[in-house]
This record gives sequence, structure tokens and C-alpha cells, in this order.
Amino acid sequence: MEQYAVCGGNPLVGEVEIGGAKNAALPILAASLMSDETVLIENMPDVRDTNILLDAMKGIGVHVERTDRHSVKINASQVHHLTVEGDGVKKIRASYYFLGALLGKYKSATVVLPGGCDIGCRAIDQHIKGFKALGASVQIAHGMITAQADRLTGSHIYLDVVSVGATINIMMAAVLAEGRTTIENAAKEPHVVDLANFLNSMGANIKGAGTDVIRIRGVNRLHATEYTIIPDQIEAGTFMFAAAVTKGDVTVKNVIPKHLESISAKLVEIGCEVQESDDAVRVVASRPLRHTHVKTLPYPGFPTDMQPQIAVALGLSTGTSIVTESIFENRFRYVDELIRMGASIKVEGNTAIIDGVSRYTGASINAPDLRAGAALVIAALAAEGVSTVDDIRYIERGYEDFHLKLKGLGAQIEKVETERELQKFRLKIG
Ligand code: UD1
Repeated sequence: MEQYAVCGGNPLVGEVEIGGAKNAALPILAASLMSDETVLIENMPDVRDTNILLDAMKGIGVHVERTDRHSVKINASQVHHLTVEGDGVKKIRASYYFLGALLGKYKSATVVLPGGCDIGCRAIDQHIKGFKALGASVQIAHGMITAQADRLTGSHIYLDVVSVGATINIMMAAVLAEGRTTIENAAKEPHVVDLANFLNSMGANIKGAGTDVIRIRGVNRLHATEYTIIPDQIEAGTFMFAAAVTKGDVTVKNVIPKHLESISAKLVEIGCEVQESDDAVRVVASRPLRHTHVKTLPYPGFPTDMQPQIAVALGLSTGTSIVTESIFENRFRYVDELIRMGASIKVEGNTAIIDGVSRYTGASINAPDLRAGAALVIAALAAEGVSTVDDIRYIERGYEDFHLKLKGLGAQIEKVETERELQKFRLKIG
């Protein structure tokens, strides 16, 4: 089984190019099937989740042509199935975006109930509420969810919780519904805005994306477009915290600094220097890290997807920090692994109380989910000695060439598959 072998202790130094946002790419790929004309998507991250989605699209008759590693042409004029299933899609959360896309275009969709990272109960009641408000009937049976309608009509929908997935799904279905839809208490994440921009570039009429209230006027059809996906805020944030914990100096390039504000603010609070330019952010960590408190919140708050990474940094800071997770209830599963590396953390409910320690030590650890997996790799980069990180398939769901990009910054990290390869790594690092 593949794992990362990591030898910690090197400050990360240099520049790293950030790819397209996974969480924007997934709904954009699904939404691309809502046109019968050819859509070109650029800056698409080449990660497991996007590839699973593309395979699922091929499975229902969508023509998918990779023009290069990060560009794909999609033509969905020959869709022959309105059911999306299979082991791949079952494992990823974003498979539910086919519901909104297919329901909007064909007024019918059946999708295997979504999986994704095991970070807590991930209800879909708000998605269902939205589809029903647009006039669809929704049934769940045998692990599949079906949404159907004779016609979809615009509606006024108030979301009881701020949900990225529900906002996106309702937006997709409403784009081709008759009349006007208003989504109140909508999610404001950059990827929600990116999807709205993408749909508008295909002829949709969406206003207000990025605010609490999104207004959609239904159109009859969507046309061809060429679209470039925004940079990945979480990939960028992960490298920014990697700089902090390794006492490094890293410039993340091809980013939108505005999307990184909450992350940059916390890095400054804990003692890093953060320099922003037009499309890059440099993080310099030359002083000891200081404690702070952080609570995860919907955008523009501090992202839940950055919670494990900041916890790894706070674990090495002076003093006591409190991390409160307000989005997902099961997002501290990495803490046991971090404790095995020497961290001093106590979890009580949705709060982690972190007493900073002066160092981590290398250990054999498992990636419990995508973001926590990346955070543990960062911890290993800061730790004394060698660590191995198992279950890296989670990390590969959302980070393209993660270990190669880290290596480019001077990290001692290899992907190894056998004991022999691990021994070779140990010998190489001496
Ligand atoms: C998306 C992201 C994920 C990120 C999360 C929050 C993708 C593929 N995943 O997940 O990386 O961590 O946003 O920024 O983009 N909820 C309900 N009912 C619903 C829907 C959600 O109660 O119908 C709750 C969830 O249990 C959770 C909260 O709302 O507590 C936020 O979930 P949501 O924003 O929907 O997250 P995802 O779209 O699943």
C-alpha cells in the first residue's frame, strides 16, 4: 500500500504553484453537462475526485476529452442515462451535484447517496427541501436518491443551515426552472461564486452569488463556454501553514489573496509575516509561533477545511490555544495521531484544547481524511526523525502532486510502496 515517507526538520523554502480549486471544479464539471454545446474548462485540478466525476460523466454518455492535464472539453448532447452510480461516485460527496444538474436539464436524476470524508453527519435535507420547493418529488430507496419533476418552477427558499452543497445544487436546478428563484441564507464560499460565474458564462441569469441572497431567473437553455476555474484556497492555505510549522519562507503563487484573508489573519496572529501581492502570498515564519483561538465558520470565516492544519501549528506554539469546530462534529479524528507525535491536545465535544509543545517526533500515522491527512504530513515535516503516513489515497482525493510540490520546497518526502522502498528512503536521508 502506498504511503508517504517523511523526514522532518527542513524549513520549507521557495515558491509553489497552486492549482485549480477542487471544490469549484466538482460542481462546474457537473454543471457542464447542463448544456448540449461543448464546454471547455481550464485550470482543472488533476485529483482523484475530479477524475471520478469525469468517469461518472462518461458512464452516462457525456463526451469527455482531456486536451491537456488541466483542460477538459465536455459535450453532453448524447446523455443516455439519468442514473449515476458505481463504487467511485459512492465514495465522493460531490456526486450529489449530478442531482441538481440532471434535474435542472432533464427533470429527472437518480444518484447513489453520497459518501466523502467521514467528518460527521453530512445531512442532505436542505438539498431536498430546495428541490421540493422547485416542484420536484424526491425519494430515497436502496441507497439511491431520485429527484423528478414534470416541470420546475422558481421558488423562494430559505436554507436552515448555511450549506455549500445545498446552495450549489439548488442553484443548478433553478437555472433551468421557469421563473425566479431566491435562495436566502446562501453559502458565500468562493466556489459558490465560481459556479455562478460559470453558469452565467453559459447564459444563466444568477445574481448575488457571494452574498446571503442569490437570485436566479430561469432560462430555457445553456450554451457553450470556455471557463477557467479559480485557484484552490485550501491547497494554498495548506502550504501557508506548512511554511509556518517548518519555520520556512514560502510563496504560494497563482492565488486570489482575498480568498485567503481568514487564513492570513490567523498566521499573522500566531507570529508569521504574511506579504500579499496581486496573485501571490508569501509566508515567512522566523519567530516562535504564538497561541491563539480559532472557530471554524462558513466563508468568510475560518474554513473548516483548514482546521487540522492550524491545529498542527498551534500544537507547536507557546501557550494554550482553543480550536472550536462549528461545521462538522467529527473533525478531530486526527488528534490521536498528532498525540502520537508528541502533541498535547484534549478534545471536549467540538473543542480542542491545545497546549503547545516544543517539538513533534516522527511516528507511523494514518490519514483519517483528506484535510487531516495533509495536516499530518505537515506535522511530519516539522517533526524530528522519520514518519510514515498511511492511507494517502485520502490526500490524493484533493491535492495534486502533494509530495512533489513539497519536495520542490525542500521537503524530504517520498511516496513509497514497499518496505524495501522505505528502507531506501531511510538510507538516502542518512
Ligand atoms: C463542502 C465542501 C467541504 C467543506 C464544506 C464546508 C465540497 C465537495 N465539500 O461540503 O470540503 O468542508 O463544504 O465548507 O465542496 N448540512 C445540513 N443539511 C444539508 C446540508 C448540510 O444540515 O442539507 C450541514 C452539514 O451537516 C454541515 C453544514 O451543514 O454541518 C455545512 O455543510 P455543507 O456546507 O453542505 O458542506 P458540504 O457541501 O458537504
